[in-house]
Amino acid sequence: MALEGSENIPMSRAVLALLVVSAMSTSLIDRALAQSSARGAAATAPAMRVEANLAQLMRGTLYPESNVVFAAQDQNPADVPHAKDPSMATDPLASQYGKWEAVENNALAIAEVANLLTLPGRKCSNGLDVPVTNPDWAKFVQGLREAGMTAYASAQTKNQDKMTDAADVMTTACKNCHDKYREKKPADRCK
Ligand code: HEC
Repeated sequence: MALEGSENIPMSRAVLALLVVSAMSTSLIDRALAQSSARGAAATAPAMRVEANLAQLMRGTLYPESNVVFAAQDQNPADVPHAKDPSMATDPLASQYGKWEAVENNALAIAEVANLLTLPGRKCSNGLDVPVTNPDWAKFVQGLREAGMTAYASAQTKNQDKMTDAADVMTTACKNCHDKYREKKPADRCK
């Protein structure tokens, strides 16, 4: 006991000293980290690359992902049986990460795709630039992000009525942007 007691004092002093030192050096460390990450970024640039046109991105991500969210209105995801080989399933609801977890993950994926919709350099299928600098584009993207997070919160409750509400929010978020930028002659999309 005596041994422990005598160790306690130097220990707490050491901890205190550590705290003081770390408080003083935080800004130094931050600066060093910022410098090395700036160097790292220069060495590994470009960090972001755009590979798909906007229609391909929609068909490959938002379309299948939102269908998983929409399906949860009519069919209880908990009742979807696993596929014969769940690890190879092409229906997320029947996969290894299926049922309500699939709804959660696809809702999150939609919110993440919102970030991809803000990247510069992407073209629409007619060759025009995706209008990422238009204020209403940013507003529609934010609507999509929020719809994704609403669907995520609803999926966490495992309540199908909540999924119906979330699906309405989602449909509106898609439609708001499509009305302005998609529902027109192909050559006029994204204008
Ligand atoms: C911020 C704007 C925006 C949002 C939000 C948006 N879209 Fe799109 N979407 C577009 C535009 C613009 C096109 C046309 C792209 C092109 O022609 O390259 C498109 C095309 C598509 C296409 C391809 C159809 C076709 O004929 O080319 C699908 C499928 C699609 N969107 C689904 C969705 C779904 C589902 C959602 C919501 C979960 C959604 N989109 C949200 C702007 C948006």
